[in-house]
Amino acid sequence: EITEQFTSGLPKAELHLHIEGTLEPELKLKLAKRNNVDIGQTTIEEVQKTYQYDDLASFLNVYYPAMNVLQTEQDFYDLAFAYLSKAAQNNVRHVEIFFDPQAHTSRGISFKTVIDGLYQATVDARALNVDAALIMCFLRDFSKESARKTLEEALIYKDKIVGVGLDSDEHNNPPLKFARQFEDAAAAGLHRTVHCDIDQKDSIEHIRQALEIMEVERLDHGTNIVEDPDLVNLVAKKQIGLTSCPLSNGFVSPEMKGKEVLELLDQGVKVSIHSDDPAYFGGYISDNYFAIAKKFNLSREQVVQLARNSFETSWISPEQKNIYL
Ligand code: ADE
Ligand code: ZN
Repeated sequence: EITEQFTSGLPKAELHLHIEGTLEPELKLKLAKRNNVDIGQTTIEEVQKTYQYDDLASFLNVYYPAMNVLQTEQDFYDLAFAYLSKAAQNNVRHVEIFFDPQAHTSRGISFKTVIDGLYQATVDARALNVDAALIMCFLRDFSKESARKTLEEALIYKDKIVGVGLDSDEHNNPPLKFARQFEDAAAAGLHRTVHCDIDQKDSIEHIRQALEIMEVERLDHGTNIVEDPDLVNLVAKKQIGLTSCPLSNGFVSPEMKGKEVLELLDQGVKVSIHSDDPAYFGGYISDNYFAIAKKFNLSREQVVQLARNSFETSWISPEQKNIYL
């Protein structure tokens, strides 16, 4: 029987975590006050009442407007350092943090403000024994031209970024729309991952594009791949990581997709467990491990394998990996 103590104590790598999705109601209100931004709510209860969503689009409609409270470098620092303290409490030893620069540059905040604040928090987190890196995501519902400009800016800060990702609204926004940016990012030595969220329209086609044409190293969510045995064989063979987020899945679909995770684990796919947007989906990484372990009766060996997979498919150096594995 898996306990909360076990999932919390297990050393983990967090590979699917949107920093903007760690904005807790309390910090949201504090920053709103500090920056004189009216978010329409003044108490934690009022903020929580706005957290109503049952699919990806309705979630994003709550998620993006809240980012208005993030204005200064200090705000981004505070957001990231608060998260990294939580990561330390969850025994997260390594974290690759997604951030969405276009969600900020599109409302007049400079790329520099965002990355300087986030990066300084990752430096200071070393004192907490958490090793942290940043993954810049393109918003797939923005234009190719906007992605091109964003990558150009990002490359100025190349040493502060470990890779690129692709997130936001997947509907009619296939990975291939950004093939050129992913190619350029690869040429600049950056790692690559793409969101293929659960149960989206054209799921399998999106997964195929990401794997076969864009040669990503991980798929975020990606568990719809179980529908296509050839693609399952491909990710198993190439050791592509699939970052599943059970509590997030429970919000955007009727279930957390534990059956799919176990099936993939059984077939030797490097699937792992993460938290997506913990302030919005009701739990950090240990809660996600516990939720799936409890509901699907996972054995200790299965839980440990999920955690091993998170380190194996992380973008830390092989020498450093040996420390964890
Ligand atoms: N941005 C934050 N969370 C996301 C998710 N689960 N899917 C797509 N974009 C996101
Ligand atoms: Zn995500």
